[in-house]
Amino acid sequence: MPEKVLVTREIPSAGLRVLEPFEVTVLHERPPEHRELLDAVRGVSGILSTATEKVDGEVMDAAGEGLRVVANMAVGYDNVDVAAAVHRGVVVTNTPGVLDETTADVAFMLLLAAARRLGEGERLLRAGHWEWWGPKQLLGRDVWGKRLGIVGFGRIGQAVARRAKGFGMEILYHNRSRREDAEQELGARYVELDELLETADFVSVHTPLTDETHHLIGAPELGKMKPEAVLVNTSRGPVVDEAALADALADGRNFAAGLDVYEQEPEVHPKLLELENVVLAPHIGSASVETRDKMAILAAENLAAVLRGEQPKTPVNG
Ligand code: DGY
Repeated sequence: MPEKVLVTREIPSAGLRVLEPFEVTVLHERPPEHRELLDAVRGVSGILSTATEKVDGEVMDAAGEGLRVVANMAVGYDNVDVAAAVHRGVVVTNTPGVLDETTADVAFMLLLAAARRLGEGERLLRAGHWEWWGPKQLLGRDVWGKRLGIVGFGRIGQAVARRAKGFGMEILYHNRSRREDAEQELGARYVELDELLETADFVSVHTPLTDETHHLIGAPELGKMKPEAVLVNTSRGPVVDEAALADALADGRNFAAGLDVYEQEPEVHPKLLELENVVLAPHIGSASVETRDKMAILAAENLAAVLRGEQPKTPVNG
């Protein structure tokens, strides 16, 4: 009898093909309700989840003792209770490495769009309010040659740094540990977070969400940034205090922001929705055809490996 696997959302078929040896149930395109998830996991050996599902001890217990793996189709795994998984002997995996460049593209896209007021300009044009070219119209901030501060210098942060190099930017970074190889390769300079915030023209956030990074960028940190600075967040929403950011942008204490992630997705702080100086994307960092195929395949291969008794490629809990 093939083992049972639950795929919590519709995923690219490339991933489903990897799961053909198993009895697979795929839920639907929208995220399942928690109760629906509890029912759907009963009796499964593996769960292929996405960032929208909270996979906690209750879900693992609902699956039953046969559960051996939770394969998250995301590099972030703050939605999975890893301690609860360890306690139950369940392997958790994620999908690092396959989405770095795609996510870095979106970070740089938001950086450019926020600095050069693209969203505001497009809204003006589409509303039929663009009357003429103007010498003082929609003046943004230059990107080339400016100083970029990267908070979290892992694979995605470094991919952003490579793009910044092409724009002749000076690169500062802050990370839990020094990345000396990347410093050499990219000419990046390690600084404390305060120095980064005080001196950078652009701040791009790439830390995972943990207890330590929750509201890492709050009102005091925003207050340290230059008034002409631009903040970009493509990591996880709760790393930035959204209400504090909305206040700072509304008061002109920060020039602009580009966001791909939010504290209560899919909700966005209502004040942000009113502001012209923030570019808002709906969590599309890894959303390219090529990358989503790779994420689905890697998640499925991880799941299949555990069920075959093999070591998965990218476990998060050993
Ligand atoms: C990730 O991989 O963490 C992306 O944000 C998609 O959830």
